Amino acid sequence: MDLQTLENTAREMVGPGRGILAADESHGTIGKRFEALGIESTEDSRRDYREMLFTTPDIGEYLSGVILFDETIRQTTSDGTPLPQILLDQGVMPGIKVDGSTVDMPLSPGEKFTQGLDKLAGRLEEYREMGARFTKWRAVITIGDGIPTDRCIDANARALALYAAFCQDAGLVPIVEPEVLIDGNHSIQQCYDATQRTLSRTFGHLYEHGVELTGMILKPNMVISGKAADNQSGVEEVARATVECLLRSVPAAVPGIAFLSGGQRFLQATQHLDAMNRLYEGRLPWELSFSYARALQEQPMEIWGGKAGNIEAAQKVFRHRAKMNAAARSGSYSDDVEKAS
Ligand code: 13P
Repeated sequence: MDLQTLENTAREMVGPGRGILAADESHGTIGKRFEALGIESTEDSRRDYREMLFTTPDIGEYLSGVILFDETIRQTTSDGTPLPQILLDQGVMPGIKVDGSTVDMPLSPGEKFTQGLDKLAGRLEEYREMGARFTKWRAVITIGDGIPTDRCIDANARALALYAAFCQDAGLVPIVEPEVLIDGNHSIQQCYDATQRTLSRTFGHLYEHGVELTGMILKPNMVISGKAADNQSGVEEVARATVECLLRSVPAAVPGIAFLSGGQRFLQATQHLDAMNRLYEGRLPWELSFSYARALQEQPMEIWGGKAGNIEAAQKVFRHRAKMNAAARSGSYSDDVEKAS
């Protein structure tokens, strides 16, 4: 393992003033998002949409990396340029989602297990040759009656650790994503407890598998009340609960934490990241960044709407959202900044 290269890549991924775009939706997920907007999901429309995002002028000012889906890393633009090359030309590193998505956790109703370890080493080799510098694997933990169970957390944490070990062995930086879902009516305290249990098991397995913590990125959920909870947590409450939970569960050797947006409204995702960086400025061992899908794409996807004539307007809004989240990385986002630009 070339640890120096892994560490350099990991630090670049979470370097100041930039973040990561997750554009790795599976066919099913992007199909649902397109359908809600009346856009047909085909190989070409998915390519056109992602080409629109990646060719946004100067997007490399705000993005260090983009997570791609298997179909996308193999696609070319209308003029024949591979999509990963478009990113490299913008100074943005291409990454790739490598998990095989979730199945129902056996004998554990309401819980999920993420599969995809079979033949992983070979796939990583291929992706590295195609230009990928990092990877992503997402595990899903659900809060509900009697769940998450220890066995579900443990099975997913073990798979995440093995995935991370395979990636480092192949010279790719693993993004380790254990997501405690926002779905449900649970309290912020229940989310805190489930997140802490999940992160401690995950780091236990990462340690046991020999994963170098300096050469990986953690992608967790924020600690937040359930979407259907009566009592919705405030911005500062989310920021403090999240950072306090992470301080108790994430070793200082990890260079950076890049949050998922997880179904928060897009402004909330920016405000929460900003509050964390502002309230804890100079007191954190790791960088706090973003690796959003929905919170970055919601508006541009709607404005694009599948029409070539809307590309410029969609790119403008996409660049704005990326810029706002880049500002949140240093706690310098505000309503005024949002409106001024
Ligand atoms: P969201 O930001 O929409 O939660 O997506 C992030 C992601 O990559 C999920 O795996």
